[in-house]
Amino acid sequence: MPMGEEDAFATYEALASSFPTCRGLRRPYRKYGNFIYPAHLMAPTLAMRDAFVARPTDVLLATMPKSGTTWLKALVFAVTHRGCHAPDDERHPLLCSSPHDLVPFLHTLYQNHHPEYPPSSCLEEMPPPRILAVHAPFSLLQESSVAESRCRIVYLCRDPKDALVSFWHFIDKAAPPSSTASLAFPEAFELFCDGVFPFGPIWDHMAEYWKESVARPDEVMFLRYEHLKEDTLGSVKQLAEFLGCPFTVEEVAGGVPEAVVALCSMDQMRDVRANRDGEHGVSWKFKNSAFFRKGEVGDWNELMTPEMARRIDATVEEKLRGSGLSLIRN
Ligand code: A3P
Repeated sequence: MPMGEEDAFATYEALASSFPTCRGLRRPYRKYGNFIYPAHLMAPTLAMRDAFVARPTDVLLATMPKSGTTWLKALVFAVTHRGCHAPDDERHPLLCSSPHDLVPFLHTLYQNHHPEYPPSSCLEEMPPPRILAVHAPFSLLQESSVAESRCRIVYLCRDPKDALVSFWHFIDKAAPPSSTASLAFPEAFELFCDGVFPFGPIWDHMAEYWKESVARPDEVMFLRYEHLKEDTLGSVKQLAEFLGCPFTVEEVAGGVPEAVVALCSMDQMRDVRANRDGEHGVSWKFKNSAFFRKGEVGDWNELMTPEMARRIDATVEEKLRGSGLSLIRN
């Protein structure tokens, strides 16, 4: 941030509060450009856009909330740092820390600003390759130093129906004390069909990253949660290639890719004390266990009728038309 970081933050708070508000899922959102943001993350997101200095060696993990961010963070951390932390090491960082502590959200770093330890210092101290996460849409990153840095971006998307159901469960566990009363699922569904979702509309978020992955496949990788579930091992090998650290013949023979998959599996991660009892959050805290629920494909079935599912599918396909991305076809 250009001035003293504290002064600059106050400026972003003022700017953010001048943006229109709109109804969100249990909390207010703000509209900026074509996207809507949870109101409490608007100012930190603007600060991040202007102040974050990306490096070519950075790896940015981009997702919509509830698309498997926690899993992706763990997988990329395990793959990238396997030289110093063997995935079968019983003291592996992922066995003592939450993936959210090892791979911070940039929004959170700028939200959690502290005069004596500003985000810039914290980021400076991270050894390369820095692995960082964002929920921001690609168009916002384009206004930041990320555009010129040519750092690698891994985007993970998920069937919007499952992301919505996952989010609906999540907000009950993670909503701030000041949030409005529980939202009935049919109401959340209607809002979602109107594009209301944190950092949404979800279809525009996906389409932007998709377009970029087609234009720059060596720098932007587009993954789907469903494919990751179906072929975790193959996806992990692809990730390693993309990140410039492919598994060697010896590593493959020694079962290293399988060890990464096992280390990051739902059952393993759920058992880690930091993921079970640890807490997440800045303005308010909630249990890290909220990030681990079922991890299934097609769990929308639990709350949606076939008619509701058809409506979301049709809306998403319609909105994605012309983008080259189809969640049904791909
Ligand atoms: P469900 O609520 O459908 O179970 P995010 O990390 O982006 O917040 O996404 C959370 C979703 O990813 C949750 O989905 C959660 O259960 C699932 N998830 C978390 N860790 C996972 C893992 N290791 N493997 C597969 N899915 C995982």
